[in-house]
Amino acid sequence: MKKILLLTFFCLSYATAQAKDIALPRPETSGGMPLMEAVAARRTHREFSPRRLETQTLSNLLWTAWGISSTDGKRTIPTARNQQNFDVYVLLDDGSYIYDAQNNQLRQIGDKDLRPLAATSQNFVKTAPLTLVFVAPKDTSGHNYAALHAGSAYQNVGLFCAAFGLNNVVRGLIDYDALHEALGLSAEQEVITSQTIGYPQ
Ligand SMILES: Cc1cc2nc3c(=O)[nH]c(=O)nc-3n(C[C@H](O)[C@H](O)[C@H](O)COP(=O)(O)O)c2cc1C
Repeated sequence: MKKILLLTFFCLSYATAQAKDIALPRPETSGGMPLMEAVAARRTHREFSPRRLETQTLSNLLWTAWGISSTDGKRTIPTARNQQNFDVYVLLDDGSYIYDAQNNQLRQIGDKDLRPLAATSQNFVKTAPLTLVFVAPKDTSGHNYAALHAGSAYQNVGLFCAAFGLNNVVRGLIDYDALHEALGLSAEQEVITSQTIGYPQ
């Protein structure tokens, strides 16, 4: 019995040590430039410094994309019938993660750099520090709500980038099948689109 308990303890410790989830600081939900100026400044850029985003900036940015903004659990973007059937995956140089807004953390999916799968012919994506991949259940509404939800998320992120001096580009030129597999998505889920973000060079 003692041996079994010890073995269980070591297995659990090993599993905990393997999980490299990233705790995010509480998002800062104020500041930045006035909305109308951010709307005017939002632009696509395709040059990025490899400099990593500070965890606070990452937390703030993800909150604009898919954070929780009310005590009753509503999000920063609307979803049809408030189904909240949407996920934001995060590709960093040290692995891939899913944004867990409830616990304000990045839950690790794997430790491989998946940015090349999002790059296809656009090599700057391989070195830009952050790529978001928007994922949703396959659309059964006939209205393509999943794409609409992704549009809300990438527009919020685009405005955040304009307001805080970051570059970004929405990118549909990605390897959908390879990302689907590498992110461990189910047959019922689909990759909608992506967005690459970083500081200007
Ligand atoms: C759904 C969508 C997919 C896009 N895919 C790509 C892409 O794969 N690669 C790229 O360089 N730009 C991509 N773009 C960026 C557009 O080229 C860009 O938004 C457009 O040229 C207008 O420029 P602006 O965003 O500065 O107004 C995409 C934009 C959208 C909305």
